[in-house]
Amino acid sequence: MKKVTKIGVLTSGGDSPGMNACVRAVVRTGLYHGMEVFGIMRGYSGMVENDIFKMESRSVANIIQRGGTVLKTSRCKEFMTPEGRLKAYNNLKKHGINGLVIIGGDGSFRGAQIFSNEHDIPCVGLPGTIDKDIAGTDFTIGFDTAVNTAVSAIDKIRDTADAHDRLFIIEVMGRDAGYIALHSGIATGAEHILIPEKKTDIEDIVLQLAEKERRKKLMNIIVVAEGDDFGGGDEVARFIRARLPQQEVRVSILGHIQRGGSPSCFDRLIASRMGYSAVECLLQGRHNVFVGIVNNRMHYMPLNEAVKKKQRISEEWMKIVKILAS
Ligand code: F6P
Repeated sequence: MKKVTKIGVLTSGGDSPGMNACVRAVVRTGLYHGMEVFGIMRGYSGMVENDIFKMESRSVANIIQRGGTVLKTSRCKEFMTPEGRLKAYNNLKKHGINGLVIIGGDGSFRGAQIFSNEHDIPCVGLPGTIDKDIAGTDFTIGFDTAVNTAVSAIDKIRDTADAHDRLFIIEVMGRDAGYIALHSGIATGAEHILIPEKKTDIEDIVLQLAEKERRKKLMNIIVVAEGDDFGGGDEVARFIRARLPQQEVRVSILGHIQRGGSPSCFDRLIASRMGYSAVECLLQGRHNVFVGIVNNRMHYMPLNEAVKKKQRISEEWMKIVKILAS
């Protein structure tokens, strides 16, 4: 096994708060070990287009507290083709890069896995996504910040919902994953939480709301993940308005506000630990691996396993939602 001496780092897929803290940790740990570190711009696009530059310790100064990603990000179509990946490989070779750290979501890891099978560049994947839908880690970089953004927005909406006795339907992010909805919904005392992982029984929700209407409980919060099987906030509102015309229904779509902002302390910490561990993995010959944190300890899983598994929603949590919202 060849020793890794020059590493490339990139951020890919949807950005998440804490990606910068992670890039910083990769760069500084690499330099500490005497490696050369290269930043790759716009995810795999920068690899394909040779948008690659050498990073020094100062390149990552003053970024630990910033949201977004200084390396920028993208979802690169060309990298999905063997020709695109070959171009990317040749560009890495031009710089002598012989190890890669990929910070992103499951789509990014699928790309890394195919790439590492085709070409002799060891890859380490780190979970950077607000969605928290990745197996092999209790948390992903950015989730804590995003969910806290959602919580503070929902708290504000609750004030006005209460003042007017209104039903609010709040759509949070999560095209395929309900973690932001589940965590923020529980934390704000939402009456209903709709997530893609569980079939939504909209008729049952209408029945429950009608029963509350009889008790004059008109202020209710429904948190819905954008990818719920029934639909997003607008679809849920349309259905309820048709069935319960006396209810004052309002919709609030939180959207990309959840992706931005300064990362929480927790996200900065896990990002720093993961970035550090990724470099240690490359040095120790632990290649093509996904690095997460489970029970507060570093956890390693082969990349090809990580791309197959999904984090599962806990049944107990669903039970808690039902009991506490009644
Ligand atoms: O990064 C994850 C995510 O924020 C999902 O929750 C959301 O559905 C998606 O990205 C939105 O992607 P885009 O910014 O490309 O519209």
